[in-house]
Formats: sequence, C-alpha cells, structure tokens
Amino acid sequence: MRFSRRVQGLPPYLFAGIERKIAERTAAGRDVISLGIGDPDLPTPARVVGALAQAAADPTTHQYPSNQGEPAFREAVASFYDSRFGVALDAATEIVPLLGAKEGIAHVCLALLDPGDVALAADPGYPVYVTGPMLADGAAVPLPLRAARGFQPDLEAISGADLKRARMIFVSYPNNPTGAVIEDDFFARLVAFARAHDLVVVHDNAYADITYDGYVAPSFLQTPGAREVGVEMFSLSKSYNMTGWRSGAVVGSADLVDAFWRLKTNMDSGMFAAVQRASVAALTGSQQCVADMCAVYQRRRDLLVEALRAIGMRVTPPKGTIYLWVPVPDGYTSASFTEQVLEQADVVVTPGAAYGACGEGYVRLSLTVPDDRLQEAVRRIEERVRL
Ligand code: MLT
Repeated sequence: MRFSRRVQGLPPYLFAGIERKIAERTAAGRDVISLGIGDPDLPTPARVVGALAQAAADPTTHQYPSNQGEPAFREAVASFYDSRFGVALDAATEIVPLLGAKEGIAHVCLALLDPGDVALAADPGYPVYVTGPMLADGAAVPLPLRAARGFQPDLEAISGADLKRARMIFVSYPNNPTGAVIEDDFFARLVAFARAHDLVVVHDNAYADITYDGYVAPSFLQTPGAREVGVEMFSLSKSYNMTGWRSGAVVGSADLVDAFWRLKTNMDSGMFAAVQRASVAALTGSQQCVADMCAVYQRRRDLLVEALRAIGMRVTPPKGTIYLWVPVPDGYTSASFTEQVLEQADVVVTPGAAYGACGEGYVRLSLTVPDDRLQEAVRRIEERVRL
C-alpha cells in the first residue's frame, strides 16, 4: 500500500509511543508510575455523569447531533465565558463545538493554511501545533519560549522571511508544557502584532481554570481587538476531568468560526448530543468542583516540588496547568534522563525535546497521580538514578 507523503512525514503521536512503553513494562509485571500524559486521575463531577446518563437514555440524543452544536450547548459556553471571563460571545455565530481542543488545533490549520504557508508555533509547545500545519501541507516555524522571558515568545525576533509566509500563530497560557502564565500585557501586544502582520491568533485555552496561589488566568478574548484577529480553543477536558469525553468549543472570530464549521460539517458529524447536554451541566452548575480539584493539584505540586528539591533538582512551582517543567540534572539530555528514569525507576516523565527543540534540557512531570505515588516516584528516582 502506498501512503501519502503527508502521512509518511507524520511522526507517531508523542503519547502513543509512551503508552506502548507503559503497556510493555506493565505486561512484564513492573509497577510503572506514569507522570507522562496529562490525563486527570480524578473523576468527572457526579452531576456531569448524571446528566450524561439521563441524556443517553433519551432516544432523541441517539440521532445525528446538530453539527453547529445544540443551542443549549452554545448558550452554556457563552454564559460561561460571560461569567468567568467577562467576554460576551454571540452563541449563534461565535461558538462551534469541538471534539476536544486537539481536534480544533489540528483542523483550524486546514481552514487557514495553503500548501507552503506557515504557522508560528510556540516551542516548546503542544505537539499538534507542529503536526496540524503538516496535515495542511504547511509548516510550523518555532517560536522559542525561554525561561528568561517567562516562557513568552519574543515577537520582535521573528524573521521577516518567516513573517512573510506566516498565516497564523499558536500560543497557550497557562502554558503546556512549561506551566507559565500571562502576568503582563502580552495578549495586547499579540493582538497588535497579529494586526500588523495579518496573522490569525489561535489561543489554546485548555488550562484556564487550573491555577494556583490565587492566580486567575485570562481568556485571550478579554483583550480588546482579540476577537477580530483570532479564536480560542476551549476545552472541558482538564477543568472537569473529561479528557475521555471529547468536549470543547472554538470561540471567537465569527468569520473563522464559520469557516471552521464549514470544514467540520464535511469531516465529522458533531459531538454526541448527550455529551453536549452533560457539558451544559458542567459549565452551568456550581464551579466548586473546579476549585476543589485545583486544591488537590496545588497540594500535589507543592509536595512534588519539595521532594524534587530535596534530591537536588531545580524546580520552579508553576502558577498554572498540571505540569512541572524541570531542568534535567547535569550530564543528561531530556531524552537520556527520561530513559534512565524509566529504565531504572519505572517512572514515566516526558522529554522536553518532544515539545520542540527549545524543550531540550527539561522534562515534564504530570500531577495526575495521588500523593503517595508522587512520593514513591521521587523516592525511586533518588535511589536508582544517578543525579
Ligand atoms: C498532554 O499531556 O499534554 C495532553 O493533555 C495529552 C494530549 O492531549 O494528548
């Protein structure tokens, strides 16, 4: 069988390889602790599960869902954006459901890029910022995020040649994988930059509500002018422990939302109506469950930071996301440290270089296992890995 050049050039998804390694070791009887994928271990709130069960028992949800999204779903997203971010969205024209933010990130490239066009992609960044443009026969040009700049890109450093070909820019705050947050006027500068260079901003907003120490993350759309230059990929995955449910929405520029919807109607048949109704329950009910979950992650963050520092690793506690972004000990690359930790300690971490060249020298650790497993992971690293 002959495959397209597009697929031949596509790397396997980062977490597919990691999942295989975990399965092999587990099958060999080893006790693997995975701090790899950011897949919350806490359950979806009971009221959301209840709403799904009720909706799934209703035969009217069993047919094709509305591809534009049920009005109640779009209105729930609009009301969430209003109360959470103070952003008034038009539920009819500025919101379309997504099968998770990942789907939106990959497919928005098909809506914006022609062959040879470029997406400026945060590096380190979510791997789909690179593979999405590849799927559209475009290319990603890395936008370095460095610790010295608080993991915000230096927009002025982008070359004229890259800017000439660039059609869009991917950013995400609170940031995966670094945990960095926006604490200045970066979004305002980004809007001005996008205007000046005719770029579309795609803000991946998957971690907006996973924040610590009283920090409240903004939406990109709160910035004056943002909706004229971009969209946000909003996701329920992390805020409500719904990674398996595939629920999110693309929100913002009505023109882009419309183009995206046109694309999607030709590619998939929408989100299961029962999941849409359960998502309404998540977004419109009490948000105490989100605060409770952040308290759990904050406790884990503090525990893991303390344990890692106690074994000599340098780590800065993040103000957002479910990740620690940790420099590797001297003498290691991100890949060699990841391998040692897996081989010697049966602990999975993600190599920073898998998120782009600027991730070299770091590993990412997820806070998605209970306290005792975090402690056990660090204990094993201390005992079995040369640091
Ligand atoms: C992550 O771990 O970065 C992601 O949440 C996993 C994914 O979306 O594949």
